[in-house]
Amino acid sequence: MARRALVTGGSRGIGAAIAIELARQGCDVVINYRSNVDAARMVAAQIAALGRRAELSAFDVADGAQVAAAYADLDLEARPIEILVNNAGIAADAPFPAMKEAEWQSVTRTSLDGFYYVTQPLVMPMVRRKWGRIITISSVSGVMGNRGQTNYSAAKAGLIGATRSLAQELAKRGITVNAVAPGLIETDMVRDVPPEVVNYIPMRRMGTTQEVAALVGFLAGDNAGYITGQVIGINGGLA
Ligand SMILES: NC(=O)c1ccc[n+]([C@@H]2O[C@H](COP(=O)([O-])OP(=O)(O)OC[C@H]3O[C@@H](n4cnc5c(N)ncnc54)[C@H](OP(=O)(O)O)[C@@H]3O)[C@@H](O)[C@H]2O)c1
Repeated sequence: MARRALVTGGSRGIGAAIAIELARQGCDVVINYRSNVDAARMVAAQIAALGRRAELSAFDVADGAQVAAAYADLDLEARPIEILVNNAGIAADAPFPAMKEAEWQSVTRTSLDGFYYVTQPLVMPMVRRKWGRIITISSVSGVMGNRGQTNYSAAKAGLIGATRSLAQELAKRGITVNAVAPGLIETDMVRDVPPEVVNYIPMRRMGTTQEVAALVGFLAGDNAGYITGQVIGINGGLA
């Protein structure tokens, strides 16, 4: 039977490419999104064209009640999530002295509270099945830091800590837990980044969503069964 995957923030950018890649590898995919239903439907259509099942699930990952309500609709007892990709994330950059509390909280809550609300209910069903994949999209900012991104770097570094700890808790259970730390990837999130920034990237170009999706697809598969607790950079040599 096809494995069932959940990709948060699967309607656009990196998450959309991951959802389609997992479908290409034979998974049925639940596409979570927050507000852009048209974008989510376009991803679902591409998955259906690959002959796989796509389901849409709208919720804000940072809102525990919304996550719980969405999970109740997904019939997880009959069809558990075997592959979870925690991809949803936002940035709200500002120099730290000017950073508003709302900018700090929206970014850290989306990543960190989102990790808790989305991941925690899915762990015990994975433990019972003795198989699972939890892959979380961190960032080069969480590894190296980046000016103007104290909130985002804190959130993304926090995800690395959560990944390493959870990997140790679940290693004996056949469940791998890893983080992927992209550098600059061509998506809506970087549309305001000045083009000359590529001069700081050793490969002199941004990455593509498909390049990140291919890495996540590998980590999601059986061949990656001995990789856990790792933070895998994909950044054109930036870090
Ligand atoms: N692009 C980069 O250069 C880069 C580099 C390193 C790491 N990352 C990380 O990679 C991930 C994807 O980034 P991206 O560039 O693909 O972003 P993006 O193009 O802005 O897409 C973000 C996606 O996340 C969803 N989303 C945002 N907040 C959400 C929430 N609270 N609940 C549920 N869904 C939410 C959006 O849904 P809607 O469509 O409904 O708005 C959308 O599907 C993020 O975690 C980001 O931090 C990106």
